[in-house]
Amino acid sequence: MFSIEVILDDPHNNISDYIFQRIGINLHQRANHPLGILKSVIGDYFDSKYGQESFKRFDDIYPIVSTFENFDSVLVPKDHISRSANDTYYVDANRVLRCHTSAHQHEMLKSGEKQFLVTGDVYRRDSIDATHFPVFHQMEGVRVFEASELISNDLNDVEIVSIELKDTLEGLAQHLFGKVEMRWVDAYFPFTEPSFELEIYFNGEWLEVLGCGVMQQSILKDSGNQGKMAWAFGLGLERLAMVLFDIPDIRLFWSDENRFSDQFDAQMFRAGGIGMKKFKSYSKYPPCLKDVSFWLPENVANFTENNLCELVRGIAGNLVEEVKLIDEFHNSKTGKTSNCFRIVYRSMERSLTDEEVNVLQENVRSRMVDEFGVTLR
Ligand code: DAH
Repeated sequence: MFSIEVILDDPHNNISDYIFQRIGINLHQRANHPLGILKSVIGDYFDSKYGQESFKRFDDIYPIVSTFENFDSVLVPKDHISRSANDTYYVDANRVLRCHTSAHQHEMLKSGEKQFLVTGDVYRRDSIDATHFPVFHQMEGVRVFEASELISNDLNDVEIVSIELKDTLEGLAQHLFGKVEMRWVDAYFPFTEPSFELEIYFNGEWLEVLGCGVMQQSILKDSGNQGKMAWAFGLGLERLAMVLFDIPDIRLFWSDENRFSDQFDAQMFRAGGIGMKKFKSYSKYPPCLKDVSFWLPENVANFTENNLCELVRGIAGNLVEEVKLIDEFHNSKTGKTSNCFRIVYRSMERSLTDEEVNVLQENVRSRMVDEFGVTLR
């Protein structure tokens, strides 16, 4: 499809080897992986509500897409921060690793699809903690309405579509979580109007389950569906799987260990319902905390938290659990600002030795000087 050399040579490329190596792993395609199970269980719900396969499934669409698909086709404003190289992985000036499965709405609609579910890996430069990983998985659903479905005496088109959308997604949440309290929260997405988020009350707190809304007319028009109405939703599979299966750290989804993977069996969950079984968390190995204090460079734009996280992930891979700013102060005499970040190293699979963590941390420190021009303290 393309050669790695071309990508690596492009000045816009900000994709580290670590991220690059995730392409093609496709955790959501593994039937007995928690993400694959959740995908199937959601698919089962749509089959039971609308009829077998009446929502067409797409789960092997390649994650490198054009900036048009990722942003313009879904009306992301030209100056939106998600377009920045600090937030998104660029292959070159015109191609990115998709940051959401919404990137495929336009093409799917244009090729005539009316009801579909797209599942795929998505990529975002972000902070590092137990619930954030730069590669995660989303599912997108779209339903275009027939003219005959929009006939009503007292409701307008937007109301008809919103009601059907909310009914469908409440049904989905109940299918996944059982009888739970739910609420709708108004939201903003460029591709829908009105837009909503569905939250459920689970384990003592309100949890966002998905985003959705009535598709903007111009998206329908640009994809050859002039005058039609549609709804769309998008959800993060890890986020839901962590809650449903009680998985404590997002890195576990990438674990090759049997004691993780042996706990998930698609047949059992699809037959018995997800709520039946929880993940048996194996005891955690001890963390190793390392702080790094430094003066920001003269040109502060050279340093961002996302860039630091990318750097640490590139050196420590899955051994980094969290990167957080724990102290910041400004010296008004010198005009300089100091930051202190705490890096938590921990393996999901074994005890780390002091020596190996020290090597990682030394590496992080010197690369910070080289890449960002910070002054270590
Ligand atoms: N693309 C959104 C995100 O990544 C999720 C989303 C929200 C998708 C609303 C939709 C939608 O299709 O209608 O956060």
